[in-house]
Amino acid sequence: MGSNLEKKPHVVCIPAPLQGHINPMLKLAKILHSKGFLITFVNTEFNHQRLLRSQGLEALHGLPSFQFETIPDGLPPPENTNATQDIPSLAKSIEETCLGPFKSLVTRVNASYAPVTCIVSDLLMGFTLAAAEELGIPEILLWTSGTGSLICYNQFTNLLEKELMPLKDPSYLVNGYLDTVVDCIPTMPGIRLKDFPPFIRIIYPGDDYMVRFLCSQVERARRASAIIFNTFDALEHDVLDSLASMYPPCYGIGPLHLLEKNIADESLASFKSNLWKEEPECLKWLDSQAPSSVIYVNFGSITVMTPQQLVEFCWGLAKSNYSFLWIIRPDLVIGDNAMLPPEFVTETSGRGMLVGWCPQEEVLNHPSIGGFLTHSGWNSTLESISSGVPMICWPFFADQQTNCWWSCNKWGIAMEIDNNVKSDEVTKLVVELMEGEKGREIRKNVIDMKNKAQEACIAPSGSSMTNLEKVVQLMHTFSK
Ligand code: UDX
Repeated sequence: MGSNLEKKPHVVCIPAPLQGHINPMLKLAKILHSKGFLITFVNTEFNHQRLLRSQGLEALHGLPSFQFETIPDGLPPPENTNATQDIPSLAKSIEETCLGPFKSLVTRVNASYAPVTCIVSDLLMGFTLAAAEELGIPEILLWTSGTGSLICYNQFTNLLEKELMPLKDPSYLVNGYLDTVVDCIPTMPGIRLKDFPPFIRIIYPGDDYMVRFLCSQVERARRASAIIFNTFDALEHDVLDSLASMYPPCYGIGPLHLLEKNIADESLASFKSNLWKEEPECLKWLDSQAPSSVIYVNFGSITVMTPQQLVEFCWGLAKSNYSFLWIIRPDLVIGDNAMLPPEFVTETSGRGMLVGWCPQEEVLNHPSIGGFLTHSGWNSTLESISSGVPMICWPFFADQQTNCWWSCNKWGIAMEIDNNVKSDEVTKLVVELMEGEKGREIRKNVIDMKNKAQEACIAPSGSSMTNLEKVVQLMHTFSK
């Protein structure tokens, strides 16, 4: 390596191996690169291969100052190599097997590339803290989910102690018990058990691997030098404040995709992180639609639904009479024989566009989009806010229930669909969102929030810009 590069501070970035985590980490890595850091970006071998298949060599063909590396995730190769891996198995395997390979990798790049001055790890990859401590390298964590959800994960032990979980038996899932309001959660008065990450819906202690995993990750995070949040102060100021007493310094430097657009180098534009192949032709179709006339439907990378739920969404959209762009991931529907009803395809022909994966940020910024039916993944929520698009939420997993609660109750930028989705409700909410009084109100709120997000990331004195400078300063102190 050229001697100029060797003098630069070197950051190893490691995301959790899931789409919604790789995206924000890659953006953060690009931002840090633009601030003068050398980057080693670590994917799992499984995802590296997927990225090569979906994005091509260019997506991972590094530069002298930005290189890609891999570690194994410890799982045997799955049957379907184009689908999200089973999350509890992945979490367990990572915890049990990744420390050794990660330590070897950091030791190797430290010797062969440039001295490693900092590790930036996803908060859910807690084993990296042990590696950092053993190797004497400072570590900063990235929390890629909604900030409020970190508060909820922190309360898991509390819920166990109060015996609010595990549930006594399966009837508690349907008997209204989940409507119980939990009063003791900082910044979230009125939140119900059903708005917590659904990992708490365990029936008996043997079922609690994910609860134990998450409790240990959020506990371990206290040992980091700082935590970065993909959020901005105007959105989650009170949550960030309340976390400050529990954790090392917390910095909101999001939405990372806006910051990336504002400051990342053009030379990194070809580095992409889509695990599925994008179908950009949907943008052409959007060009042919009237402004704010299309409802965009996308449930992210992890949500799965039953064939019956698929049918409810189909007829809900069909009966709304609105045009829609619906992203049906190849692994979205459970079972091998899931099919769209042929009558639905005929009835909506011309006003319905179906694709397998799209360039979501571009779609949400397209003038034809009038609303977003989403699973409330945190990246999708931030991308929708940044584009000023109001949402209908059908949360599925992890932080999504909590993100939905914030979007609907605190920020007034969304409406929720019942988990037991019915086509009539889908139709009613789509029509309300696109033309009703409530729809107008939430559209106004989300546009207001969009302006605040832009202020945070674009004005030199914006909160995310200022916090980024603080993080960069901190990282520079590590290399002295
Ligand atoms: C997961 C969790 O579900 C989410 O709640 C958590 O905060 C992060 O990890 P995921 O379910 O995939 O993520 O949702 P989301 O957070 O919205 O991330 C999906 C990402 O993939 C977004 O950045 C989105 O722009 C991108 N995407 C999705 C596409 O580019 N095209 C698509 O068709 C679908």
